[in-house]
Amino acid sequence: MTTSTAPLPIQACSPAEAAREVAREIAALIRERRAAGRMAVLCLPTGRTPLGVYDELVRMQRDEALDFANVTTFNLDEFLGLPPEHPQSFRRYMRERFFARIGLEPTHTWIPSGDVAPAQIAAHCAEYEREIADAGGLDYALLGIGRNGHIGFNEPGSARDSRTREVRLHEVTRADAARAFGGLEFVPERAITMGVATILGARRVRVLAFGADKRDILRRTLEDTPGPQVPATFLRGHPDVRLLADGAALGR
Ligand code: F6R
Repeated sequence: MTTSTAPLPIQACSPAEAAREVAREIAALIRERRAAGRMAVLCLPTGRTPLGVYDELVRMQRDEALDFANVTTFNLDEFLGLPPEHPQSFRRYMRERFFARIGLEPTHTWIPSGDVAPAQIAAHCAEYEREIADAGGLDYALLGIGRNGHIGFNEPGSARDSRTREVRLHEVTRADAARAFGGLEFVPERAITMGVATILGARRVRVLAFGADKRDILRRTLEDTPGPQVPATFLRGHPDVRLLADGAALGR
């Protein structure tokens, strides 16, 4: 796939509608895969944006007998320097907000390790790519978008062909995380992220954006010439991508 100036398909909807729509798609994928005797492979984000989707999937398990036994998940990213139990680690977020609530087997959930030894980071990232490939690739990538246009932690400057790797976090990303960490000085400076090419390898990509603080970056994502200055622009041209955004984010 080459960089494309194709428009990004947009679905204007409320956060609640987006959560229901995405959860419905994920549930259909899981059931279709189970009928075929296969795993459904999901790529998942943390942050505020996907919480409604996780709540809705938990509800579907309870009310509609949605079974997650054939699901494997790969998270987008993790802060470096945080042990798994750190309150701000993405591993802990995922366990508390989603995995423990649906009883997902820890062996089916992959998250880059935040406490991998510096000398092992490159090998750990290569292993993450191998695990995704061995799982048969990502079926469905759910993404949020940072105010600086990052997807995962692919910060401005990230290449279209980037793979899972160590990155230095952008100042906007660290500033946005500062409150949760109790101060900018406590926010890690580095992270591991799936690459842009890794994400674009997903067979289906859904991007969620809600609220007025995403308006400027959404406009640039939709209108700028695709390039590393706004990594989310690389999503344009993916064969099965859709942005689900509310009126505040779309400026409507
Ligand atoms: C999180 C991630 C990030 C977030 C983005 C939006 O795992 O990969 O790209 O999706 O920073 O964060 P929220 O949803 O908190 O606005």
